[in-house]
Amino acid sequence: MRIKVPASTSNIGPGFDTLGLAVSLYNIFEVERSDRFEIEIQGYNGSMTDPDRNLFIRSYNRVFQLFGEGVTPIKLIQRNNIPVARGLGSSATAIAGGIETACRMLKRYLTVEEKLKIAFEFEPHPDNLLPAFLGGFVVACMDGDGLYYEKLPFPDDIKIVFIVPDIKVSTEEARAILPDRVSFRDAVSNIQRVSLLISSLINKDFSKLRKAVSDNLHEPYRSRFIPYYDELKDVCYRNGAEAVFISGSGPTVGIFTLAGEERIGRSGVEFLRGKGIRADYLITSVDERGILAEV
Ligand code: HSE
Repeated sequence: MRIKVPASTSNIGPGFDTLGLAVSLYNIFEVERSDRFEIEIQGYNGSMTDPDRNLFIRSYNRVFQLFGEGVTPIKLIQRNNIPVARGLGSSATAIAGGIETACRMLKRYLTVEEKLKIAFEFEPHPDNLLPAFLGGFVVACMDGDGLYYEKLPFPDDIKIVFIVPDIKVSTEEARAILPDRVSFRDAVSNIQRVSLLISSLINKDFSKLRKAVSDNLHEPYRSRFIPYYDELKDVCYRNGAEAVFISGSGPTVGIFTLAGEERIGRSGVEFLRGKGIRADYLITSVDERGILAEV
């Protein structure tokens, strides 16, 4: 079985823990039954071959356990094309992949909500997991009663560029620095901007995106993990970007643009390299399909 799961960018400026977008960059998991667990990893994080720590195997095992079934050992070849600990939803792909694989092996067909409930045991925020499962642009709302979400159209003329500094930031670390309280003014400003962002994307009025992606809830705190963040944003905007934001919990910088994606990526990377920071860029578009399994 081969499972392909898209990367995702979450938050997208003001939509903290709420907005997520699947993009055309994929981790691929090839699985076959075996007499023991065996893991081979190609690409990023090649050393994560311990089954007790590997997120794909842990979520796979959890599904068997929840169904009260003995676990079927597998040989896993994991092709990690998504940079790890960079804010691109790499761990969500492993969690979604492990759950999907176990469901298919067991021939148990769970709803997306049921799969997400399992996934939340490993990563308790929905904004990368939902796009990994569903693809596309997703709005999530989660409270004590459960999870509510809507998938919205995302304009396919927007390219999504990522500038990926060679710095790892764990989501735990990036959440720990956030404040417990925010001011009423900041909360209102975020409500206004996230509403403007969603409306601008739906109405394809891209002139307002730059204003709409500014954020008071996490960007001011997390930008300190991204060297020269404000200057890097200026470089992207000067080269034609429509919107620049921290991808997930960072340190990757996400960019929406209608044109000049190569130029924006290259100039951002050259800017950081000029400051002594290694970085790469990725050019993607929206992925509308989400997780795909081929048996
Ligand atoms: N919404 C999450 C955060 C995304 O910003 O912490 C990381 O998975």
